[in-house]
Amino acid sequence: MRRKHLVGVVVVIFLTWNLLMYYMLVSKNPGKIGGVSVKDQLRNLQGDIERQLSHNSELLQQLRKFRENERAEKLDEEIRRTTTPRPIRAEDTIIPILLIACDRTTVSRSLDLLIKYNPNKKRFPIIVSQDCGHKPTADVIQRYVGEYGIQHIKHPNTSEIPLPWPQKKFQGYYKLSRHYKWALNQVFHTFNYSAVIIVEDDLDISPDFYEYFSATFPVLHQDPSLWCVSAWNDNGKVGMVSEEADLLYRTDFFPGLGWMMERSMWIEIGPKWPEAFWDDWMRHPDQRKGRACIRPEICRTSTFGKKGVSKGLFYEKHLKFIKLNDKFVPFTKTDLSYLSKEKYDPYFAKLVEDTPEVSVAEAMSGRRSNMKALKILYSTKEEFKSTAKKLGIMDDFKAGVPRVAYKGVVSFMYKGQRIYLTPPPNWTGYDVKWS
Ligand code: UD1
Ligand code: MN
Repeated sequence: MRRKHLVGVVVVIFLTWNLLMYYMLVSKNPGKIGGVSVKDQLRNLQGDIERQLSHNSELLQQLRKFRENERAEKLDEEIRRTTTPRPIRAEDTIIPILLIACDRTTVSRSLDLLIKYNPNKKRFPIIVSQDCGHKPTADVIQRYVGEYGIQHIKHPNTSEIPLPWPQKKFQGYYKLSRHYKWALNQVFHTFNYSAVIIVEDDLDISPDFYEYFSATFPVLHQDPSLWCVSAWNDNGKVGMVSEEADLLYRTDFFPGLGWMMERSMWIEIGPKWPEAFWDDWMRHPDQRKGRACIRPEICRTSTFGKKGVSKGLFYEKHLKFIKLNDKFVPFTKTDLSYLSKEKYDPYFAKLVEDTPEVSVAEAMSGRRSNMKALKILYSTKEEFKSTAKKLGIMDDFKAGVPRVAYKGVVSFMYKGQRIYLTPPPNWTGYDVKWS
């Protein structure tokens, strides 16, 4: 009886279940499950899967983008690290002195001073790069390797450069340009330094030579409108400079003759370095790109090289009269931020603007000798040359830029008075045709 009852209950439950299912699935909504047709269900499912797929691919894309960004950020960071000017402590950067030598045993005179005034040979290591394969000169240099730990590298290519007849006489300029390229590649690509001071084997230096470059290095590093610091004032003859040994300028004229540049500059100009006449090539707008150098009122180098590649004429007429600074200016303890473009340009413009204007004759007459400074205008190349000749300054142009000029203004001393030889107020820039 109990068993029968149980079977009955099971049968009833089974039937009720079937009825219920039939009612729910078929009778009420024929063709539909849970209120939705199978077709719709499938369509929904397909939609769901498609959405999921697109969501996944979006996720994947985001992930890719994220990784790309991360890579780009890393690259940005690397670029920032290597190119962005950042405050540098002057004493942090190692700046080698690259001494360019050839066949003059008097290189010892340059080396003696470079060693004598060197405040720290770890910070300012001396590298002599020798061209020309001249044995007696090599022997002289070798002495300094043993005694002072300087480095002696030798240009491996001293071969003659085949040149057509009219250029033959410029062989020296070709060789020295080739040597410069090799030596600078050694400094920046083989030894990996971040800056260099280049000197030649016929230069004397002043006692504060290192101090000057040490202090101006951070200014050069932080101001992209500067591309070099030079020890040279082209009008720095005795009697044509003031006693202000601490006075520095910006100049649009590349002076050379003891000069510093950064690695980034070599990376820019090294690959297109010219076969000859490298210094004039530097002065061309294609290289200079509107950039300026820092230069001193009183030279921190002078040359004793009477006979050189340029045959010494220049020496007798001009170079031997250059005044070499003999005082030590503690530049690293002074504020040189005034040399940055944004500070210097308005200051210099105002300085010139506020100076009384006179004619050449008046300036020469001494009638205005009570004034601290005078300004003389020039509007043409001829005017510049004629005034320059009368007052004894250099009268030539390179790529349209007069020596020493900044914004067209040439500053020098004449009979104890400051003169600014100045273009007119409507001046718009150098004319490369002026030569
Ligand atoms: C003049 C410039 C010099 C510039 C050169 C190139 C002055 C005072 N000097 O040289 O700064 O670099 O023009 O336009 O304005 N040298 C070699 N290989 C050679 C010959 C020379 O490496 O085959 C080296 C010398 O050792 C020296 C430098 O090149 O360090 C310049 O030679 P120098 O004979 O002094 O020529 P300058 O007429 O003074
Ligand atoms: Mn020389």
